[in-house]
Amino acid sequence: MTVRTRGARYAVRGGNALRGSVRISGAKNHVLAAMCASLLTDEDLILQNVPHISDVDSLSELLVSIGARVESLPDGSLLLNGAGVNVFEAPGELITENRASFQVMGPLLARHGYAASAPPGGDVIGQRPIDVHLAGFAAMGASVRREGERFVAHGPAGGRLAGARLFMDYPSVSGTQNVMMAAALAQGRSTLINAATEPEVQNLAHVLNSMGARISGIGTQLLTIDGVDSLHGATCRVMPDRIEAGTFAIAAAMTRGDVYLEDTPSEVMDALIAKLRDVGATVETTADTMHVRGPDDLRAISFQALPYPGLATDLHAPMAALLTQANGVSIIHERVFDNRMLYVGELRKMGAEIVSTGSSAIVSGPTPLHGAHVRALDVRAGAAVVLAALCANGQTIIDDVYHLDRGYSSLATKLGGLGADIERD
Ligand code: UD1
Repeated sequence: MTVRTRGARYAVRGGNALRGSVRISGAKNHVLAAMCASLLTDEDLILQNVPHISDVDSLSELLVSIGARVESLPDGSLLLNGAGVNVFEAPGELITENRASFQVMGPLLARHGYAASAPPGGDVIGQRPIDVHLAGFAAMGASVRREGERFVAHGPAGGRLAGARLFMDYPSVSGTQNVMMAAALAQGRSTLINAATEPEVQNLAHVLNSMGARISGIGTQLLTIDGVDSLHGATCRVMPDRIEAGTFAIAAAMTRGDVYLEDTPSEVMDALIAKLRDVGATVETTADTMHVRGPDDLRAISFQALPYPGLATDLHAPMAALLTQANGVSIIHERVFDNRMLYVGELRKMGAEIVSTGSSAIVSGPTPLHGAHVRALDVRAGAAVVLAALCANGQTIIDDVYHLDRGYSSLATKLGGLGADIERD
């Protein structure tokens, strides 16, 4: 499975309402963390429902480069085995491909007493510090320092990490995951205060518990982790991707479509569902499906992008695209990242009336959008231009869709299956 495609672009002809059903793939932010968890044991970790996204490819490559085994099974599952790991430094060129790769640090440090890595990559959506990760390792007794371009962490002399009570300055998603993985093999109890509660963090904790970890308080901001001597193999299903589901739900509402989302974690999507209803969409749910119908007239709304259970920052840009078609003035406040506005300039090229003022955006609508030559500047900014293109008059060419490949499994094929006129070349 390799979906890395630097030169690819989309040609989209707008105007078709999306209709039909689509199956949502496994969650990017769950699978990547779970893949790193495989480094905590010598036994096999089998992950089912793995999405076909390039971030999985690049993390697989990184794991193989440090000695792990990563194998695609005939049913699409991924088998990971960390028994052969003999390199404890994540290679710089691979770590910068995506941010999740930095989560090899916690497992390597806990299991082997040493880990080094360049700062992580990922989307350019503002300052993405890693102080929460590093403070967590240090609280458990590791010595952590920067050596040139690398962060280097050594475990306590001759021993394991020691459980600690630690306050996380920010409820960082990958920071909580990284520290939780390290604490799973530490000696004694760790208490993480102000932990992230995102569903992907919760589901990583479930994967770790299936491997023999003892984590409680899952889903709360206070996680208790009783360290164990070793972890074992497990078979786990990757949760469905709430951001992919949200993107399709927004696309359905925006194109005045009628779409069933299958394998959708609607129980962790309350904020989006509330906002879709506010704009006038009809949303019906079961535990694992969602049915979205767009209204004839969309209403302007205001929202904030927040940590879970608030509206996900990853859905900020797609929602902004929708609001270009809503009646009135909408205001968006971004509360998680300091540079999530890359989509604004691209949507303006298509005729959108959006201004951004630092961490807020003001969208006036409804604006007729027109085809243009635009770029996917990051994975979610890219989703916003695809959604805008679905509503635009004429053809939109979207360059750099490799950004979309990082987080959306077969996006063009799925949209095409719902009636969109979209081609990839
Ligand atoms: C993860 C997701 C990403 C999502 C984000 C927020 C993965 C691979 N990516 O990113 O899709 O948009 O959560 O839901 O899971 N921060 C600090 N110190 C730190 C770490 C973060 O101050 O050590 C701040 C960041 O500057 C940012 C905020 O915390 O403002 C959120 O970052 P974080 O939750 O860490 O996001 P990621 O884990 O990078």
